[in-house]
Amino acid sequence: MVDMSTFVLDADARATLFTDARSNVHFSDQPVSMDAVHDVWDLIKWGPTANNTVPLRLAAATSDDARARVLEHAAEGNRAKVEAAPLVLVAARDERFHDHFALTGGSETAAARFDSDPEARTRFAHTNAMLQTGYLIVGLRAAGLAVRPLGGFDRAGLDADMFADSPWRSEVILLVGYPTDEHGAGDRKGRIDSTLAVKEI
Ligand SMILES: Cc1cc2nc3c(=O)[nH]c(=O)nc-3n(C[C@H](O)[C@H](O)[C@H](O)COP(=O)(O)O)c2cc1C
Repeated sequence: MVDMSTFVLDADARATLFTDARSNVHFSDQPVSMDAVHDVWDLIKWGPTANNTVPLRLAAATSDDARARVLEHAAEGNRAKVEAAPLVLVAARDERFHDHFALTGGSETAAARFDSDPEARTRFAHTNAMLQTGYLIVGLRAAGLAVRPLGGFDRAGLDADMFADSPWRSEVILLVGYPTDEHGAGDRKGRIDSTLAVKEI
């Protein structure tokens, strides 16, 4: 039972963001505009990242060619899902996030340190891009959208094909669309509840 005094968001908002939201496989035919994606980005960009590095980037496969190329790198079991999605986003990390330190407030010393240590940069960018991907999923839901994240794809193949001249490296594919009553995601699987996941130390 939820203690009603705990939350500042009402039950409808919590349902939209978490309790009713599913990882849809089926979506309505309504297209998802790039304006909506920009609006969601400009909301979720405020979620915190280490050193305020903001390393997540989004490649939206809006052309037939880009969709076909993403599809080619999807795992066999994910192909039909990609084909059915109104919008396909590739969530990527920017391995040269430190080039934006003038904007994000990083110091020149930190930029020089990151520049000389590509492995640390990859680790740092990966961790924080995945953190931002969580914010992004919740932000898309806040715009009334449903999201199916996909980790099952050939990252090296997609990166060579789509990001060859870029410091972006793929993390997750996000299938995005407006929900239907029939989400196609099957029965809701169990979650680890707070009695198991939370302890006082
Ligand atoms: C990082 C990540 C990778 C995932 N990879 C796949 C995938 O390759 N294929 C797939 O069908 N679902 C994938 N999923 C979907 C999860 O199975 C789904 O979000 C989870 O079971 C919860 O489903 P629910 O939101 O409907 O309760 C992935 C989800 C996440 C967050």
